[in-house]
Amino acid sequence: MSTLEKIDLKNTPNHIAIIMDGNGRWAEKQGESRLFGHGIGVESVREVLKGAQETNVKYLTLYAFSTENWNRPKAEVEGLMNLLVTTISNEVDELNKNNVKISTIGDLDRLPGDCKAEMISAFECTKTNTGVNLILALNYSAKLELVNAVKSIANDVVNGEYDIDAIDEQTIVQQLYTSEIPDPELLIRTSGEHRVSNFLLWQIAYTEFYFTNVLWPDFRKENLYDAIFDYQSRERRFGLVSEQIEKKA
Ligand code: FPP
Repeated sequence: MSTLEKIDLKNTPNHIAIIMDGNGRWAEKQGESRLFGHGIGVESVREVLKGAQETNVKYLTLYAFSTENWNRPKAEVEGLMNLLVTTISNEVDELNKNNVKISTIGDLDRLPGDCKAEMISAFECTKTNTGVNLILALNYSAKLELVNAVKSIANDVVNGEYDIDAIDEQTIVQQLYTSEIPDPELLIRTSGEHRVSNFLLWQIAYTEFYFTNVLWPDFRKENLYDAIFDYQSRERRFGLVSEQIEKKA
């Protein structure tokens, strides 16, 4: 029996976030450049998107470029930006046909002009689609997202538009890039690293983590099914005890 057949398709995560890691190591193993590894990683993106469609996952967030990634060698940064532009431009029609809605989280303003323009055109082209929401984290930092939220709320308080005692979790949620997106139930990180790396720090408060040694360019739909199957074997308690969960069910 394949893992897909074992998955309960009515209870798959609504939102899966992925830290795609290991492109560089994969490339080194093949005696290729790091950029070659990123290029092959795009095929894995296609695979997880198909896998998400097949398993009724509604939101797929991929960590494509962090604010820390600017510190990589200039040629790698430029190569990654070019890869994003060419991939989105080549794939947008197919994504549109597949009813995929593209959006981003992160600060788009620091991206090269052609990259920002390509992303905005992809949002426009797919904005009415109702299938999988593909969310690319680009120039993203969770700490910066929270700093910006605090600044915005402080500004509203100073201007008398907001009462300090009225600040609650929702006030913060509304200021995040993800204000319209439900929190992920499952976070996957590839390549054997067990870190969160400044990704969705607020949003993963109750998220299940799944770590795999598979390097991102080798990640296939079956690896996604494995992660979902593993997730379904867990009991999510949200701070309650098992008995309370059984009663609620
Ligand atoms: C991490 O591997 C990967 C990245 C920082 C970039 C991910 C980008 C892609 C898969 C391609 C573009 C994607 C889209 C959505 C079009 P690493 O370089 O840190 O690998 P290493 O840890 O082995 O060095």
